[in-house]
Amino acid sequence: MAEQHLSVGPRGPSYHGTTLEQHVQIAQRKYPGATGDLTGLFAQISLAAKIISSQVSKAGLANVLGLTGTTNVQGEEVKKLDIFANEVLVRCVQQGGHVCVMGSEEVADPIAISPEFPRGKYVLQFDPLDGSGNIDINASIGTIFSIHHRTSTGPGAGNLNDCLQSGNAIVAAGYVIYGSSNMFVYSCGDGVHGFTFDPAIGEFFLSHENMQIPERGDTYSVNEGNYHKWAGGVQRWVDWVKKPEGDRKAYRLRYIGAMVADLHRTLLRGGIFAYPADAKNASGKLRLLYEASPFAFLVEAAGGAAVDGTSAEGGRILDIEPTKLHQRTPLYIGSKADVADALRFVAG
Ligand code: AHG
Ligand code: MN
Ligand code: MN
Repeated sequence: MAEQHLSVGPRGPSYHGTTLEQHVQIAQRKYPGATGDLTGLFAQISLAAKIISSQVSKAGLANVLGLTGTTNVQGEEVKKLDIFANEVLVRCVQQGGHVCVMGSEEVADPIAISPEFPRGKYVLQFDPLDGSGNIDINASIGTIFSIHHRTSTGPGAGNLNDCLQSGNAIVAAGYVIYGSSNMFVYSCGDGVHGFTFDPAIGEFFLSHENMQIPERGDTYSVNEGNYHKWAGGVQRWVDWVKKPEGDRKAYRLRYIGAMVADLHRTLLRGGIFAYPADAKNASGKLRLLYEASPFAFLVEAAGGAAVDGTSAEGGRILDIEPTKLHQRTPLYIGSKADVADALRFVAG
């Protein structure tokens, strides 16, 4: 047999860095039984994110601005981009064959995977476009998602019970922010990792490895226009947080009206974001399954806390057992010390 010479390839990531898909793939190799399904699902979600972001950046040019004149299942006005983003996600993900059912803010019932596609072992829930009120003013918006294992058995499509799982059962969650740059942030429970989109290459590249939320921040983020509707405890918390006391400075207020943008800042800089219950909305505004829960999973994975404030212990968001696809929950989320401070006022 002829003598063989082998060259060895270079070590480390590609010249440009690690892509989102490479990162998920590397993380999945740690699990001996991994089939590549989760990596495949992420590929479909990131494809959808690229299509949505390309459309978002053209929103002022294309005929996609404005209202469709219809209302979604929450009774809110729907912008055309909400529907577009929803359809893009559904189409990209269903043909990938990695999920058996999906839940979307824009669709009243669970979205079963039709028989022409393979039914996979995962359940995907998402807010296709978060902060859609910001579209017309060119401010940041986003997409939020969570992934669970299927709980129903058999080869058919999944069902509502597959969607009604607590945050404790989340396999992976993430968000995409369409901002001054576009970023994809995800966690499989093992660290929170951020990827910035390079438009020249068309890929998300690792830019924020192992994001950690500071133990305490100096910012609070809440729609204070609701002050008159809040319970006394919530009012007293906000009064306290913005009043200097001894060495403690007043917190700064930042609120853009898209939780993706407000929580992206909170993850990086620390502080607290809240959407409390109020006299009109006993459970606040935000939806558990595709807004609060995925962010609770991410913020806890980054070292922070997320509670609904309904008990002295806090009422951990990830412990809530959902009963409805579109159920709402009050939310206090962010740096551990800031959430603990809020709880001293609002809990119970
Ligand atoms: P969406 O655009 O998906 O309906 O979500 C908007 C949400 C959330 O992102 C944001 O923090 C909150 O609504 C803002 O509500 P207010 O306008 O009541 O402050
Ligand atoms: Mn939303
Ligand atoms: Mn939305």
